[in-house]
Amino acid sequence: MFNNQSIIEIKHLSKSYKSKEGKIEALQELTLQINQGEIIGLLGQNGAGKTTAVKLVMGFLSPTEGDIFFQGKKLNVAAPRKKIGYLPESFQPNPNLTVYEYIQFLSALSGSENAHCAKDDIMDILKQVGMNTVPNRMISDLSKGMIQRVGLAQAFAGDPDLLILDEPTSGLDPIGKTDIIDFLLAMKQQGKTIFFCSHILSEVERLCDRIGILADGRLRFLGSVKEFLGKWGVKNLEDGFKLEVQCATSSPSVK
Ligand SMILES: Nc1ncnc2c1ncn2[C@@H]1O[C@H](COP(=O)(O)OP(=O)(O)O)[C@@H](O)[C@H]1O
Ligand SMILES: [Mg+2]
Repeated sequence: MFNNQSIIEIKHLSKSYKSKEGKIEALQELTLQINQGEIIGLLGQNGAGKTTAVKLVMGFLSPTEGDIFFQGKKLNVAAPRKKIGYLPESFQPNPNLTVYEYIQFLSALSGSENAHCAKDDIMDILKQVGMNTVPNRMISDLSKGMIQRVGLAQAFAGDPDLLILDEPTSGLDPIGKTDIIDFLLAMKQQGKTIFFCSHILSEVERLCDRIGILADGRLRFLGSVKEFLGKWGVKNLEDGFKLEVQCATSSPSVK
């Protein structure tokens, strides 16, 4: 049954890809509930299945098995996710637009009832990601960190209930990372729910209400960072993560 507090329910979600080497079980039996207003981080090494999970939730891939419910309603593959803001793993905005034009274009395109389209609203969005000082700069002239900020701006430009962010701090320097973490915490204060994935552990402790650990396509742990440290009797996430991954490798069929 649908729990009132959950914004997304993922049930027994699996995805396998066909490749030249044979079948790749990228995600197996993922069951996960994302609660309204929480920040939940899906952690895992490269190839663990994080992006596959995110793309399934976004409807860019069809699952081999399983269902996804958004606010209690089953989501169909390919139906637009208007209430979900999304930052893809490799975000590549149109280089021929200015920062302002790009956000304006996307806001208009999103067609969401509460999309911000007015100039003040666009400047407000840019301010929140620290890009209000360069609205007229061409996207082609931005640094990687600035592009990532534009990516975050476009993810919440339509005022979505849920933000899904695939590696939001990838490629950023430490200050850039801290800024983005602060931004996400501010989004949470505004009532947004955030589901993000990352292979960088250091950013998670401050940010997440709960973490999920994926290894080899299977969810190995779901709970608070404190619970995770307790599970392994360690003081930092990295030590626990190593043990979890080792355990997954030595017993690949354990859920
Ligand atoms: N389009 C695809 N075709 C075949 N295999 C894929 C495809 N996309 C991802 N995979 C494989 O699925 C597994 C999970 O990948 P991915 O979800 O991208 O992991 P992560 O985001 O955690 O790094 C990897 O083994 C990867 O090689
Ligand atoms: Mg990925």
